[in-house]
Amino acid sequence: SPFSFFTQPMPMPQVIAPSSTTGGIDTYNVSIKKAIKEIVPGVLTEVFSFNNAFPGLIRATTGRPVVINQYNKLDMPVAIHLHGGHVAPEHDGDPMDTIAPAGVRQYHYPNDQPHAPLWFHDHAHHMESEHVYRGLSAFYLLTDPTEQALPLPSGVYDVPIMLREADIDPSGKLVYTMDDFMGRDTILANGKAWPYFQVAARKYRFRLLNSTNLRFFTLKTSDGSPVIQIGSDGGLLEKPFTTDTVALSPGERADVVIDFSRYRVGTGIVLENTEGPGPAERTGKVLRFDVVKTTDDPSSVPATLRTLPPLPAVTGRRTVVMSMDEDSRPNPQGYMDGKVYDHRRIDNTVPWGGSEIWTVTNANLGIPHNFHIHLVQFRILTRNGNPPGPAEAGLKDTIRVMPGETVTFQANFDSFRGKYLYHCHMLDHAAMGMMAQMEIV
Ligand code: C2O
Ligand code: CU
Repeated sequence: SPFSFFTQPMPMPQVIAPSSTTGGIDTYNVSIKKAIKEIVPGVLTEVFSFNNAFPGLIRATTGRPVVINQYNKLDMPVAIHLHGGHVAPEHDGDPMDTIAPAGVRQYHYPNDQPHAPLWFHDHAHHMESEHVYRGLSAFYLLTDPTEQALPLPSGVYDVPIMLREADIDPSGKLVYTMDDFMGRDTILANGKAWPYFQVAARKYRFRLLNSTNLRFFTLKTSDGSPVIQIGSDGGLLEKPFTTDTVALSPGERADVVIDFSRYRVGTGIVLENTEGPGPAERTGKVLRFDVVKTTDDPSSVPATLRTLPPLPAVTGRRTVVMSMDEDSRPNPQGYMDGKVYDHRRIDNTVPWGGSEIWTVTNANLGIPHNFHIHLVQFRILTRNGNPPGPAEAGLKDTIRVMPGETVTFQANFDSFRGKYLYHCHMLDHAAMGMMAQMEIV
């Protein structure tokens, strides 16, 4: 069907406002429900939403707790997880700890962690993949005085962008088929297929989130000009760096600054994706920045953004091997250390108070994976034996692990005790069992 790219504006994510701010706590009432959205111009699509938002955005501040009453108005169970959040186990949205249809559940988020671009999404076992695909994901941008003191682009020049893929049939139906890499070839930015975004000729900060189920992005500008990466999953990097490409596996975030003052008014710059699978004429394009006016720019990117604490002495080491059936059998399963997820099983018992080095390997030779662990923000030590590149030098909660790769990271388990998950964040793979449980005791 004839389709022209970049014909609709990219909206900002829809801000979800608190219903009460008394007692030093922000309380939200959120309805998880169906909504109708125009993703492709002229076509209506039924999605799942938080308060009608596709996608939504909650703004939180370190030191100020948030309580969210999640009302499940779908006819399926859900479990809401704050990805990257420092959250007690009973509020972590465990896959088996679900909100029944017509039920409500209160989630408590202490926000006792530094600034970070967090997000929340469904995690109900075997359904998380389809539910997130249908729209149950939202930004949760946590800020703190360290971040606020910096002269970075702010206000309307600080733009969260949720990237994802979809398979939308000609009638507008969002088609979900498990592990369907090829069909999901429509690229969405803030809920719109291939939008444009009008900018002034100055610096902008973009908070990029890959909320796809399967697709990995490697982003670049169509004119090849570099961007400045300033942050990742766990907030700002210690130092900004200039890069031609930004790589994001599912669940990862990248905070980048693009300076449009180098372009003349009237210029269009396409944000491209060079990572497959194709068709590249569709999946190779993401959105277009249109430079429409000049303006002054008091913002700057300081040479030092933050200081990360030194890593403590190592108290333990463990390994995790990720794999998936690779022999094209009809119902492939995913494994962590050779086992399919079982909520009754504890796969690793982690002594409380320690700092551990985990070594994560993708044993598949033809299938990429990635790795996400709940509760902690970790530091990558090595990737295939080498020190991490600058994009992976900050705090992380999700990492790509390409075929045959091994990544080591160090994490501190010195806060909450209890059961937490770690899994592949290609959510179709998690739904196939590529998920495990640790208990911090
Ligand atoms: Cu983003 Cu276990 O999840
Ligand atoms: Cu995987």
